[in-house]
Parts: sequence; C-alpha cells; structure tokens
Amino acid sequence: MTAPVLEVEDLRVQLRTPRGTAHVVNGLSYTVGPGETVAVVGESGSGKSVSVLALLGLLPPRVATVSGRALLQGEDLLTMGPERLRQVRGPGAGMVFQDPMTSLNPVLTVGKQIVEGLLAHGDLSKQAARRRAAELLGEVGLPDPEQALDRYPHELSGGMRQRVVIAIALSNSPALLIADEATTALDVTVQAQIIDLVEKLQADHGTGVIWITHDLGVAAGIADRVLVMYGGRCVEDGTVDDVLEHPAHPYTRGLLGSLPDLAAPAGPDGELPDLTTVPGLPPPPTDLPAGCVFWPRCPVRGDARCETEQPPLVQIGGPSGLPHRAATWCGHE
Ligand SMILES: Nc1ncnc2c1ncn2[C@@H]1O[C@H](COP(=O)(O)OP(=O)(O)O)[C@@H](O)[C@H]1O
Ligand SMILES: [Mg+2]
Repeated sequence: MTAPVLEVEDLRVQLRTPRGTAHVVNGLSYTVGPGETVAVVGESGSGKSVSVLALLGLLPPRVATVSGRALLQGEDLLTMGPERLRQVRGPGAGMVFQDPMTSLNPVLTVGKQIVEGLLAHGDLSKQAARRRAAELLGEVGLPDPEQALDRYPHELSGGMRQRVVIAIALSNSPALLIADEATTALDVTVQAQIIDLVEKLQADHGTGVIWITHDLGVAAGIADRVLVMYGGRCVEDGTVDDVLEHPAHPYTRGLLGSLPDLAAPAGPDGELPDLTTVPGLPPPPTDLPAGCVFWPRCPVRGDARCETEQPPLVQIGGPSGLPHRAATWCGHE
C-alpha cells in the first residue's frame, strides 16, 4: 500500500467566543491517499472550513486551541514551526478558499503573485516563470492570459479572481490540495474545466485532494470518497458509491432526501440536492447535545441512548466491502 498524503488523527479545535468555548471540531480522523479526492460535505456551520484552516495553521492562536495529529507526507503539520509551515504551504499543501480576496494581494499584479510562488519554490528563470504563469492562467480558463498577468486583482471579476487563486494553488503541483467551496461561485462550464484540471494534476503528480462542498452533485462527480461532517464530527464516510447509494446515517439520508419524511423535491434532471433538505438547524458548537450529535433533528431517533450516549464511528457492513464508517445508533442495515 502506498503511504497516504495526509493522515488526520483525532483533530480537535476549540474556539474562544463571547458565548463560551465553541467545540467546532471534535475528534476528526481520516486519510487522503495519493491521487485520491475526499469530498467533505455537511451543512454550513458543521466545521468544514475550521477543520482545514487548523491543518495549515491558519487559525489565530489566541482564539483557537488545536490538538491531534495531521501528518502531511509523514510530517506533523500541527507541531511544525511557523517557518516550516510557510515552506510547506504551496509545494506541500495548496489551499483555495471561497473568497479569492482573502488569498490575493491587492497591491500586486496577478502575474507577479503567480511568478513569486513559482520562483520561491522552483528553479525557473524569471522569463520562464512568466511564461508558465500565462500558461497556468490559460489552463484555468482566463481569456487573454498574457494581458491578465499585468492586471491587479480589483480589475478582474470575482470569477476570474477565483481562477487566479486556483492557478496559484496548482502552480507548485502540491502534494495536497485543499479546495474550500472553490468553485461554488463559478458557472458550471468553468467549474467542469477546473475539475478537469485538478484531475490532470492528480494523474501527473499524485496530488491528494480535500474538496469541501455543500453541493452533493459536485461531490458525486469529483470524489473517490465522501466524508459527511455534522457538529464537528465525521458522522459517516466511505466510497462515494457506498455513502451516496447506501447511506447509513440518518443525517446523510436526510441530505440525500432519501428518508421518506425528509424527501427533497427532486431536481428537474434528477440532480442531487444542495445541503438544505434537513429541517431544523445544526446545534451551536458552544452547546452541543450530549449523546448523538444529530438526535435533536433526527426523524428516526429511538431509545434514550440516542440522547445520552455518543455513538462511535465504526465500520459498517456494506455491499462493496470497502471501508464505510458511520456514527449512529440506528440506520444500519
Ligand atoms: N472566528 C470564529 N470565531 C468564533 N466562531 C467561529 C469562528 N469561525 C467559525 N466559527 C464557528 O465555527 C463553526 C464552524 O464553522 P465553519 O468551519 O466555518 O463551518 P463550515 O465551513 O462547515 O460552514 C460555526 O459554528 C462558526 O460559527
Ligand atoms: Mg465553510
């Protein structure tokens, strides 16, 4: 077996807030193999973004307490010094956020920002780096890439800025790419183009990908495995086929609209829904329920155990026989 690109073990993140300690990530463990794409899905507020910001040391230490292990190619991101982390971001781990303005420097041209990254981590000449930068912008679908190099971020539309950020993240052929709602704001054609590009990067460089999305259709299209997050925990994970076709957790079933009393209106083309189909709201991380984190909203909750005892994330039997885990007292077939 080839070694995983990323091994996350018992990741926990607590944030100090005016309302008390927010338990935002509560014991998350997963791996991403070379060339593998893991889609992380779950409603807004389930801790998806915070969990990956923690990996790259991007949470303010005054506010956040992070524990656990996160081995990137064997090296623990959580105990790395800031200097080493800076080296690792880029060639080790590239990240694309939903809001491109958080990643672009407003006072530098787009070209300068891409070239800087290429020069810092590679051995290209300045000229070659500029050529490569234009090539990258072309690959992410920017019209007139040569011209775009000399533009400032504010001169580009939101969608174009986002493609620049994606080009920067891909420019160093990272071992791990983390995309947090990276294509949500882009139209479907561009989205498909970017997904193709990421798949090419994976084929060429064995890049492992964490793809955070609230859109199960995107997850189904891009992922090898799916990890469903709720209340800062993984409530279910497995291959994309196992999780989407044989969901074991009532929350996953709710998201998929496959519980009779949670049935989502079917899309006109039968497409999978966005994650808005489960009635009620996720619990605030300052006040998580005891027991199963989903029980207050669960349509099939059973005995008192659901309310008092937290179900462990365990391997469940599935038709494929591949690893498929769920944390629930009910719903196993
Ligand atoms: N800087 C912060 N201070 C306090 N709470 C935060 C902060 N950032 C996120 N949170 C809280 O952490 C929880 C998880 O947020 P987030 O990871 O952004 O969720 P997701 O990406 O799944 O939508 C939310 O309840 C959110 O309100
Ligand atoms: Mg988020």
